[in-house]
Amino acid sequence: MASDISSVLAEDRPDAAASQATLQAAAHADFKQAVLYGLARSSRRLPSRFLYDERGSELFEDITKLKEYYPTRAETALLKTHGADIAQHVGDADILVEFGSGSSRKTSLLISALEGLGTYIPIDVSESYLTEATEWLAPQHDGLTIAPLVGDFTKIDALPDTARGHKVGFFSGSTIGNLTRDEAKAFLLNAAHLLGRDSAFLIGIDLKKSPDILIPAYDDAKGISASFSLNLLTRINRELDGDFDIAHFAHRAIYNEDEGRIEIYLESLTGQTVSVLGRDFSFSEGERIHTEFSHKYSIEGFQALAATAGWRGVTAWTDPDGLFSLHLLRFG
Ligand code: SAH
Ligand code: AVI
Repeated sequence: MASDISSVLAEDRPDAAASQATLQAAAHADFKQAVLYGLARSSRRLPSRFLYDERGSELFEDITKLKEYYPTRAETALLKTHGADIAQHVGDADILVEFGSGSSRKTSLLISALEGLGTYIPIDVSESYLTEATEWLAPQHDGLTIAPLVGDFTKIDALPDTARGHKVGFFSGSTIGNLTRDEAKAFLLNAAHLLGRDSAFLIGIDLKKSPDILIPAYDDAKGISASFSLNLLTRINRELDGDFDIAHFAHRAIYNEDEGRIEIYLESLTGQTVSVLGRDFSFSEGERIHTEFSHKYSIEGFQALAATAGWRGVTAWTDPDGLFSLHLLRFG
């Protein structure tokens, strides 16, 4: 199967316009298929990767600055405090491959700690995020080659031929928690294949904690988390000729104790029929569309999951309040 990725910095290449158009057409087809399928199911769902259009990426950045949303602050502090130790455990690495890189702000700390790094490959579905992050990072890291890739990190089967050398992976923000456990295992197996034998992988994991802390982090007082979820309906209206009335849906965040995860839904506030690409979807009052999981792990629980995919937990760092963890894994 061909790779799902391509460089957004391909603007200088003669085939760039064609490949850009192909990429955008494939992304549109993926969105259309997922929305029509997800709304037709009896338990409705929309995959979380579609939350990150340009506006969604901006709203996520706003979330990271909320007082209720501790993960970004906690992970940033861990990278600042333990950067040298992390670099020592990683050892020699030529290429840093990041999955779901977003703004790359935390990555800049890691790049500074990993002396001798030659290339950074940020991978993200959000082209706007990649472009902004590349422009922000480049002046700060002289001599670093930045080679962004637009694509779905669960579907990538190869890195570009130019990515030759010893690789280290980075998966920050606990984004792996947005995958189910089965999906996370499949992702980790594929990451082992992409990064290669003896590679290191640094993964940020949000830890299990009281719902009193978790719920406000996903349903904040200012309503930014709600806007982030509801923006998905605005995106459907714009890109798939939908007529969702945003005022008739509400953001709901619940903690599922048995599964150890936050579950996010968009709930219909009334009986209503919505049209998308000419197809009608009827909602009863209270009916929900699932949009996100955010799994929380214990240190041991995550390391056990990683081990099922062949990754050995070398060490883990946590903050004094035990909110968040950074795991250094090695393959093989
Ligand atoms: N790692 C960053 C961003 C986290 S937000 C941080 O910690 O701040 C999640 C990021 O993953 C977004 O940038 C989103 O666009 C990206 N993303 C989500 N699902 C994805 C997928 N399936 N493939 C590639 N990128 C994805
Ligand atoms: C990107 N991801 C790890 C975030 C999280 O915490 O699960 C996404 C998010 N959704 C709502 N708030 C934050």
